[in-house]
Amino acid sequence: MERVTEPELMEQPLQVAAYTAADFDSTDEEFISRLHEFLAAKGIKPDSKTLFLDLGCGPGNITTRITLAWPESKVVGIDGSAEMLKQANKIIETNKFQNHFQNISYYLSNLSSDSNALVEFRNSADVLVSNSLLHHFHCPNLFWKVIKELAAPGAIIFNRDLRRPSSLKIAIELQRKYLPNAPEILTTDYLASLGASFTVAEVRNQLQNSGMNSLKVLPIDDRYLEITGIL
Ligand SMILES: C[S@@+](CC[C@H](N)C(=O)[O-])C[C@H]1O[C@@H](n2cnc3c(N)ncnc32)[C@H](O)[C@@H]1O
Repeated sequence: MERVTEPELMEQPLQVAAYTAADFDSTDEEFISRLHEFLAAKGIKPDSKTLFLDLGCGPGNITTRITLAWPESKVVGIDGSAEMLKQANKIIETNKFQNHFQNISYYLSNLSSDSNALVEFRNSADVLVSNSLLHHFHCPNLFWKVIKELAAPGAIIFNRDLRRPSSLKIAIELQRKYLPNAPEILTTDYLASLGASFTVAEVRNQLQNSGMNSLKVLPIDDRYLEITGIL
C-alpha cells in the first residue's frame, strides 16, 4: 500500500492519554533487551559518562526503562509535544521508582523543524535511540539529518519502527492481533501509523541518500523494522 503521512506530533490530550495508558510493556521490554544485546555485541558498557538520547520519547516508556537498565548514565528524552512531556514528567515524579529517575531529563523540541534548539546536544549522544518515531516524519531525510547532528563520533544508533504492510487488509489484521481491545482513538492512530511507516527497502534507500551506509535495516517479526549500527 502507498504511504500516507499522519500528523508528526501527538498533541491531542485524548490521544496522548490513550497512548500513555496503553500497555506496551512486552514490546518495550523487548526493545531494551535487544538494545542490551546490541551494546554487548559491540563491547559497549554504558557508565556515568554515557549520554543516551531517546528521540520522540513520548510519555517516556523507553526513556524510563533505559535509566533502570543503566542507572549511572545520563538519559535525555526529546519530544515535540508538550502534552506528551507533561505525561512523561508526571510519570517520573509520581512513580515508586522516582529515586531511580534522577538522571532523566526531558526536552521539548520539534526535531523536524528546530533542531537548532538542541545545540547543546550536538555531536554529544553516545547512544541514540528511537522507538516508533521515523514514520512520523513527513520528510524522513530530516530524521537522518538530526541523528547525524546529535551523534557523537562512534555513537551507537538503535531505532525501531513499524514496517508498512503490503495492504490495508494486513494492517487491520495486525491491529486486531496486537491492539484488540484498544480505545477507538488508539486503534485509529495505530492504523494511521502503519500506513505512514516505511518498508525495509525505503529505509535502506534513505540511508544511502543520507550517506549513512554503516547502519543496517532488518525486518523484525511481522510488524517492525530495526535500524542499527555505529556512526
Ligand atoms: C508513537 S509515539 C512513540 C513514543 C515513544 N518513543 C514510545 O516508544 O512510547 C511518537 C512520538 O514522537 C513524537 N514526534 C513525532 N514527530 C516528532 C518530531 N518531528 N519531533 C519531535 N517529536 C516528534 C510524537 O509527539 C510522539 O510523542
